[in-house]
Amino acid sequence: MTNITLNIQQTFAVNSTSRITYVNAGAGTGKTTTLEARIEKIARNTLPWNIIILAFNNSIVNDIKDRLKKHISAKKVDKMQIYTIHAYALKIISKQVKMKNELLDQEKLVKFIRNTWNKYKKLNNYKRQSRTYNEKKTRQVIDIVLKCRENNSYIKQCSKEMQLFYRVFKQELKATKSYDFARIVKVAKNHIPSSNTPQYIFVDEFQDTSEARFNFIKALVGKNNYLFAAGDEDQQILEWCGVKNNNVNKLSQLYKEEFKEYKLEYSYRLTKTLAQKSNQLLRVFNNRISKTLIGANRARGSFNIKKFTSSSQEVNWCKNFIRNLLKSRVKAQDIAVLYRCENMMYSDIANMGIYQSTIHKAKGLEFEYVIIIGVEEGIFPRSNESIEEELRVLYVGMTRAKKSLTITYIDNTMRKLNNHTYIQVKKSTFLDYLK
Ligand SMILES: Nc1ncnc2c1ncn2[C@@H]1O[C@H](COP(=O)(O)OP(=O)(O)O)[C@@H](O)[C@H]1O
Ligand SMILES: [Mg+2]
Repeated sequence: MTNITLNIQQTFAVNSTSRITYVNAGAGTGKTTTLEARIEKIARNTLPWNIIILAFNNSIVNDIKDRLKKHISAKKVDKMQIYTIHAYALKIISKQVKMKNELLDQEKLVKFIRNTWNKYKKLNNYKRQSRTYNEKKTRQVIDIVLKCRENNSYIKQCSKEMQLFYRVFKQELKATKSYDFARIVKVAKNHIPSSNTPQYIFVDEFQDTSEARFNFIKALVGKNNYLFAAGDEDQQILEWCGVKNNNVNKLSQLYKEEFKEYKLEYSYRLTKTLAQKSNQLLRVFNNRISKTLIGANRARGSFNIKKFTSSSQEVNWCKNFIRNLLKSRVKAQDIAVLYRCENMMYSDIANMGIYQSTIHKAKGLEFEYVIIIGVEEGIFPRSNESIEEELRVLYVGMTRAKKSLTITYIDNTMRKLNNHTYIQVKKSTFLDYLK
């Protein structure tokens, strides 16, 4: 690893001799760093194609490639198998399964569910209802089906009606030879070649691995291959698409004495203050035993909460703050503006070259200066979402900051979400937990 001396706990994890290794630790403790060091170590003694790294989305795939190229030759890295789970699953099945129709992406899948539901209602002589009622019900159905796609066991807690419909939905997928991402992963699981699969499997952010993906990885690992995974259950934020699990327990039950868990204590990313504030958030729900982050970053940091009376005042303040940072030679790439919902991006700030994204997409990344905007009731926590999960989303957002964190909100006024939607907002109750 360039410029980094791994600490003793990280070193133990890198040198794990277990077949199944899990690094379970909080934000900024060096999970990804440890995983990379392990890849570097394994790459010394095996052919690069024998190493597979499975990531959640394409931007993480690219990020991993860039990071690895800092300490492993680019030629070697390019020969490693670095894929999103569904891209790799697709690669496996494309040889065996003929897909008649094009792949259903999220948008097409939602349409497919909607159409199938309408057909189902007709076939089963559902009573006519008002448009609003129908739309609300359809949205619930879509929500449930999406969750079930990634998490089969979710259907057990649904109504009889939904259980029946979900069965029909799956038949419809098969009958029309349609594939969504989940089906690709499920089919691929049964087509994994018995030999010539990569022997060393790496998965980061393992807490976000859905049941369907978990089963696929389990099949890849088989009886002889090695799994090295890292994760933090406090950063599990994909419940809305069916990810609700305790993957560490699953691994330990499945692999028993072949399994070993490593914990890391010190967060190199977080300052003492930010570690303490993040811990406060995790403590809100005392039904879970969370880790305690120890901030080891000695940078002189800051933590502020700012209230504004309108979003134009908020954006002006952000622009000013960022302008001053840039003037004092902070690089644009060290600053991030994060928000809870899509559509909250400010074009003025984007023009300054500043990274702006949802917190979900900023997972795994870090910045010197982070501003989280719009921490308001109805937006953050977003209405109708699980409060615990919303807290974890805020935790993920806060723990992106290496040095300075500013949280902003507008109070008792309207927030524009997009061209058609404004909502009345006020200070988020979450901010009470950060005093
Ligand atoms: N042993 C170490 N010494 C110094 N800095 C470290 C060490 N391990 C990790 N870091 C730094 O801490 C930060 C967070 O590491 P990262 O691997 O991204 O953490 P995680 O994946 O657990 O969130 C990075 O800037 C990384 O370079
Ligand atoms: Mg990481």
